[in-house]
Amino acid sequence: MREQSDALVIYGITGDLAFKKIFPALQALVVRERLNVPVIGVARSGGSLEDLVKRARASLEAAGSFDPESFKKLESLLRLVSGDYNDASTFERLRQALGNARRPLHYLAIPPTMFPVVIKHLNATGCGAHGARVIVEKPFGRDLQSARELNATLRDVFPEEAIFRIDHYLGKEAVQNILYFRFANSFLEPIWNRQYVAHVRITMAEDIGIAGRGAFYEETGVIRDVIQNHLLQIVTYLAMEAPSSTWTEAVRDEQAKVLRTIRPLSKADIVLGQFSGYLKEKNVAPDSRVPTFVAMRLFVDSWRWNGVPFYVRAGKCLEASKTEIFVDLKEPPPVVFRERPQGDNYAKFTLAPNVAIDLGASAKRPGEGMKGEQVTLSVVRGEPQGQGTRLGPYERLLGDAMTGDATLFARQDVVEAAWAIVDPVLNMPMPLTTYECGSWGPPEAKPLIEDAS
Ligand code: BG6
Repeated sequence: MREQSDALVIYGITGDLAFKKIFPALQALVVRERLNVPVIGVARSGGSLEDLVKRARASLEAAGSFDPESFKKLESLLRLVSGDYNDASTFERLRQALGNARRPLHYLAIPPTMFPVVIKHLNATGCGAHGARVIVEKPFGRDLQSARELNATLRDVFPEEAIFRIDHYLGKEAVQNILYFRFANSFLEPIWNRQYVAHVRITMAEDIGIAGRGAFYEETGVIRDVIQNHLLQIVTYLAMEAPSSTWTEAVRDEQAKVLRTIRPLSKADIVLGQFSGYLKEKNVAPDSRVPTFVAMRLFVDSWRWNGVPFYVRAGKCLEASKTEIFVDLKEPPPVVFRERPQGDNYAKFTLAPNVAIDLGASAKRPGEGMKGEQVTLSVVRGEPQGQGTRLGPYERLLGDAMTGDATLFARQDVVEAAWAIVDPVLNMPMPLTTYECGSWGPPEAKPLIEDAS
């Protein structure tokens, strides 16, 4: 049986991620009575526990979720260890702060360059000993080679089942529902293949720019930021074969298989763009060629999907914010009803701004004659993630990691297989077109996307 972690250690507790995502998730876990162990923040920036409590409160207020009673409980669990990650004494103090805890969960919400040094100290001080777990934040490497090195560093100290590579998209209900909806029903699977599916289109559009994260974005760009991880994870859920059960490794085996069958990208399959104004952002090089938009065509070379293009598009500063997956079904033979609406048979999963699953169909328009009209069967309609009764992704994933359930985390081979797909185009000289903010990206992307419609 998997044991519950008996402490949560968060590195980078005064950072941006902790402020935006981790504190709200911690309070949400308290509300559901799923967090009752010491939460030890580690920070380089000094400050007192009182400052940390203030910051936690400010984070919850900013998220609009401050709840005085739960916060009191969270406050009673919070501890702080301040110090440099290069300094062994920081980890000695952490050892003391852990007290009797023997199975801590270490959450590395810090830049990846710091991972090796933290892991080395965890090993030396025994804080990473048997029973300990580690959560690693993205970006998980910069390319295939660095991801392999990072994996090797982690695996020197932790066994694979103790490593939780977080991808918050897998924590989204709507993403899990792709898997559930596919395999908990009998009507979809028979048509979920190259005989019936014309193409798959995945769009992750954001109307915001890089929101002051110039230094981060210069290091990543859109492919590393959201394609290698979030959107390729979605592709695995859409394209995988039925796992033998919901057992963690059964699901992750199928994900790995999908990624291994995707053809590595080539120049012809991809269009890159950069929004006008990006070069004027703080901490961005004046001649930067970092893409903020990508449209690509992927091929899953499996028996089920051979020849079906998967179009994937993501970008910042676009016309709207929406994340959706559109599975376009082939047209029926135009024999009985020749004048039926085109493109009307589809399955659509909407992840943002709202959550929905829709099926598109044609029905007879009332009246004389046999004329059709497009209708939508709304299967699921829901409020955005994290609101109402829905678990927020970070809350879900943190809770799972505390119990040792890695199903919604990326396994080493899955991460490496995803890097192998994008790796060939990461450093290849490529055309880069500037696009206007508020548009749908560079016009060059249109043929690639329109091919799909
Ligand atoms: C993050 C990326 O992983 O995901 C951001 O670094 C992006 O650039 C964000 O904005 C999108 O997440 P969500 O949950 O708002 O779709």
